Amino acid sequence: MRKPLVAGNWKMNGTLESITPLVEGIKQGLTSINNVEVLICPSFVYLSNVSDLIEDTSILLGAQNVSQEDEGAFTGEISCNMLKDFDCQYVIIGHSERRSLYGESSELVAEKFIQVQKSGLTPILCVGELLEERESGETEAVIGQQLRAVLDKVGAEGFQQAVIAYEPVWAIGTGLTATPEQAQEVHGFIRDLVAEYESDRTVAEQVRILYGGSVKPDNAKEIFAKQDIDGGLIGGAALKSEDFLGICQAANG
Ligand code: PGA
Repeated sequence: MRKPLVAGNWKMNGTLESITPLVEGIKQGLTSINNVEVLICPSFVYLSNVSDLIEDTSILLGAQNVSQEDEGAFTGEISCNMLKDFDCQYVIIGHSERRSLYGESSELVAEKFIQVQKSGLTPILCVGELLEERESGETEAVIGQQLRAVLDKVGAEGFQQAVIAYEPVWAIGTGLTATPEQAQEVHGFIRDLVAEYESDRTVAEQVRILYGGSVKPDNAKEIFAKQDIDGGLIGGAALKSEDFLGICQAANG
């Protein structure tokens, strides 16, 4: 049985002033939600504050990116050990904004994935196709390439302690959402691809696959109802406590 995970990716949003009411609002509403793992991924600079704010709650903390290196002369980078100092448990890896705006290749993403696991943190590996790739029938080829870059290195076992997020790039921040059927089709493909790397489907059936891309309280329930969709990676709607809570509620069943 896969426990749903709802992760808020705050991206480069928030201020010292705004994060307290946001987290407090989430905390208050979560008392009635007990069947969902709830994760917040603030900007690096607010990790410490959010860590303090969620102390003694079940809310988990994650980062939006990390270096593939241990430590050293890498100006501007953040290491896994630094994240662990603030009780981070998850790290988003290979978000489409990192891939497209910062040129992160699937090979680099695989290195980061390995580094995150080596440190005892859990990677959330993002994959997704562009609109033109979907329209030209290349969705599975693109997702397959992004996933195999990691699977070829770590095998299915590497996904025992990992989360995958399917985020069609054309649905991120656009208000367009994949239909539940479109999302389920890709989620099923992803699960089958993990299964290709093992002799039975143990890891494939256990790995959580989140959907991301304009998830809102009013569309979350039908998306999460699909058999291979185990929660969501939430951008815009994670910045308002009532919207984020509505999505958590939808995952709670
Ligand atoms: P969105 O972002 O919910 O604003 O579309 C999702 C994401 O990029 O993780």
